[in-house]
Amino acid sequence: MEPILDVTVEVHSHLSATDERTLAEDVLDGLTRPLKELPPKHLYDARGSELFDGICELPEYYQTRTERLILQTHADDIVERTGAVELVELGSGSATKTRVLLDAMAAAGTLQRYVPVDVSATTVHAVAELFADEYPDMSVYGLVADFERHLEHLPAPAGPRLVPFLGGTIGNLPPGTRRRFLRSLAPMLGADGHLLLGTDLVKDPRVIEAAYDDSAGVTAQFNLNVLHVLNRELGADFEVDAFEHVAFFDRQREWIEMRLRSMKPQHVRIDALDLELDFAAREELRTEISAKFTPQRLRADLAAAGLELVEIFTDPDELFAVSLARVA
Ligand code: SAH
Ligand code: AVI
Repeated sequence: MEPILDVTVEVHSHLSATDERTLAEDVLDGLTRPLKELPPKHLYDARGSELFDGICELPEYYQTRTERLILQTHADDIVERTGAVELVELGSGSATKTRVLLDAMAAAGTLQRYVPVDVSATTVHAVAELFADEYPDMSVYGLVADFERHLEHLPAPAGPRLVPFLGGTIGNLPPGTRRRFLRSLAPMLGADGHLLLGTDLVKDPRVIEAAYDDSAGVTAQFNLNVLHVLNRELGADFEVDAFEHVAFFDRQREWIEMRLRSMKPQHVRIDALDLELDFAAREELRTEISAKFTPQRLRADLAAAGLELVEIFTDPDELFAVSLARVA
């Protein structure tokens, strides 16, 4: 556990040696399959988190600015309807859009606490310190943790709780895990809490593919960075320049995939696992799925998780949705 920084800012870490084991287990499990695959959470080391912030600024990546616009339009209404006194933000990252909600809570006079939860220790520490500075009347309880495994380490609610899970990160979970995960949120929401879920919407595949294969090549760097993570953390010898970034929209499953394609036959050794791997020329490794939603799918996923949809907020072009839900 990290030391307490001062009375209003605490950061606790629930990632430890077991999490290096998680990376090792995910790599062993994922890279020995016929279609090689890695879970996307390993994309977010300090460099990966920085690259993601770069993606959010790209002209092709419409998600961030659209979600911000939706929040700006509806934040006062959301705060009034939920009576929220604290925000528990899952996958908070740099939390650039969170200020819109915090400002609305401050204006309503309800703001008491902000709880950012992220696997990226650097972003949780940075955001905790920055926000404690910017909102001196609010306390901050940062949690460096895996939201799929560590939600029992959250502090007890300070009052009605609003749980933003923004950016479309829910779409990075495969469908079965997604519903299981949503179900796991009910106990932390409690009787008077609400989930605020950001999801990207189904649209012209060309628009989606451009967002994941930008002309400046930032998404390609973000994707390739996971190989640097494996080289550094597990003593692997991936030749990063011998892989290329691939992004394509699967129309049937309504998700976009990021893959890394080996540009030649390659042999890779991963010391920490004592594992030898071969990649055929053009063989691909899947590093992320990012599901796109329809209102029907949103309703069905929330209902299957025991959650009731209160309202779906969207933008005039229906690019993105922010849904408010509570325990049914
Ligand atoms: N919410 C921000 C950041 C989205 S990027 C936004 O809307 O812009 C996704 C974030 O989720 C990253 O910061 C990443 O580190 C975090 N993340 C991914 N998988 C996670 C997991 N299993 N547990 C906790 N955080 C996770
Ligand atoms: C964090 N997540 C919702 C992003 C997405 O769009 O799926 C990650 C990302 N991948 C490529 N670009 C951005």
